[in-house]
Formats: sequence, C-alpha cells, structure tokens
Amino acid sequence: MKKNILIIGGSYGIGFFIAQSLQKDFNIYIASRTKGGLDDLNTTYIQFDAAKDNLNLSLLPEQIHGFAYMPGSIDLKPFKRMELETFKSDMEINFFYMVKVVKDIMPRMADNSSMIFFSSVAAGSGMPFHTSIAASKGAIEGFARSMAAEYAPKIRINVIAPSLVDTPLASKLLNNDKKQENMANRHPLKRIGNAQDIGNTALFLLSDKSSWITGQVIAVDGGISTLKTN
Ligand SMILES: NC(=O)c1ccc[n+]([C@@H]2O[C@H](COP(=O)([O-])OP(=O)(O)OC[C@H]3O[C@@H](n4cnc5c(N)ncnc54)[C@H](OP(=O)(O)O)[C@@H]3O)[C@@H](O)[C@H]2O)c1
Repeated sequence: MKKNILIIGGSYGIGFFIAQSLQKDFNIYIASRTKGGLDDLNTTYIQFDAAKDNLNLSLLPEQIHGFAYMPGSIDLKPFKRMELETFKSDMEINFFYMVKVVKDIMPRMADNSSMIFFSSVAAGSGMPFHTSIAASKGAIEGFARSMAAEYAPKIRINVIAPSLVDTPLASKLLNNDKKQENMANRHPLKRIGNAQDIGNTALFLLSDKSSWITGQVIAVDGGISTLKTN
C-alpha cells in the first residue's frame, strides 16, 4: 500500500521539489492557493489558502504518513522600520496558520509518521534586519520540540532551518547578478541553496531512513550558521 503525504504549499519552491520526488512512490496531496506546476505531476490537488480556509478533511485520506508545511515569508528591515503589522503577518503565515492545520490533521497522523516544519538560519544565528522572521521561526522551533516530545514515539517531528534558497520566496534578494554573488560569498560553501538541497533533507526526514531522529532542528545552510571562513 502506498503511503500518504500531505504538503501544504507544494505548487512551487521547495515543496514542489518534494512532491516531484515522491509522486511515484507515494500518494501526494498538495494544498495551496495556486496549482503552479502541479498539472505535470501525479498528485491530488486541494485548493486551499491557509490564511482564509479550513482544510477540507473530507478530501484527505484517513491516515497521513508524512506532512510538510511550506508557506513562509522573508521581510527584512531594520527594527526601527519594522512595523508591528509585519511581526503579526509573519507570525500568522509562518506559525499560527501552521498550528491551525496541524491541529486539524493530528488525529489523522499514522503510527510511525513524520512531520516537517521549516525554520530559518536566522532563528538560531543573530542576523541584522531579521527580527520579525527570526521571531516567528523561533516560535516554530520551540513548538516543534514540544510537539515531538508530546507525540513520541508515535509521530516524529523535525524542523529544517535553511539559509537563502533560490525559490520564488527569495526572488527579491536574488534578482540581479551582484546580489546573487554577494549572497553566495556570505556562505562558507560559496553558493546559495536550491530547492533540491533543502528538499533532499526533507525526503530523508519523511522516510524511514530517519526513523531514530525526532525533535531536531537541522541546518541546511551552506555552513553559514556554524563556520567562519572569511
Ligand atoms: N527560500 C528561502 O530562501 C528560505 C530560507 C529560509 C527558510 N525558508 C522557509 O522554507 C519554507 C519553504 O520556502 P520556499 O522558498 O519553498 O517558499 P515559496 O517558494 O514561497 O513556496 C511556498 C509554497 O507555499 C504555498 N503557500 C504560500 N502561501 C500559502 C497560503 N496562504 N496558503 C496555502 N499555501 C500557501 C505556495 O503556493 P501558492 O502561492 O500557490 O499558495 C508555495 O507552494 C518556508 O517556510 C520558508 O520560510 C525559505
């Protein structure tokens, strides 16, 4: 029997790579606002806006074996220009809407299932202009550890903390050669990430190959969070 994977936001970006990689061997359910490139994949699409909609559980299988929540934000500004509204909206899309979906699907999570949330390198390493995103991703990390403890040994729950990845989310930070070069050079591995770099870690965490890993925040960041090479 094929296992069921639910991805909130798999229409493009890192989630699309995960869907593309798993579509042959798993039943993939994607819930997002647009279909993006999904017409070319073997997935079940659910029209869903995390900001407005309740997830329609009648469209989902009784048992879910893998889950990933992809929506996120990047709004970088000096703290003095960071409005309270930005903190609120970042917290909503990254954290509260995620918690809402997780509450809805928890009863469907199967024994030995795996859940993945996405943080950011900025939650664990202080970076200027990241106050809002660091706060909302920090909430995810604390939430995930507590959930992992509460649901062990039935469900494994882990977080991936990427640095800059070349997806639509990061397009403003990478929209010319100079920015791309500067961003690449900040990383010890001298390049920015791509959807595969992050997605491959997600595939591992969703698979039974990671069956003794839970409650972890795994950095996939070109070395930037731990190495000083310049
Ligand atoms: N890219 C980076 O540099 C980077 C760095 C650090 C952390 N991360 C984190 O990694 C995760 C994935 O990032 P990504 O770069 O793949 O993002 P992305 O390119 O923006 O893709 C996000 C996905 O989520 C969906 N989505 C967005 N808002 C939604 C909503 N309201 N309701 C339902 N679906 C929604 C999008 O589809 P629709 O628009 O069709 O709804 C899309 O499929 C995020 O949590 C992000 O914060 C990314």
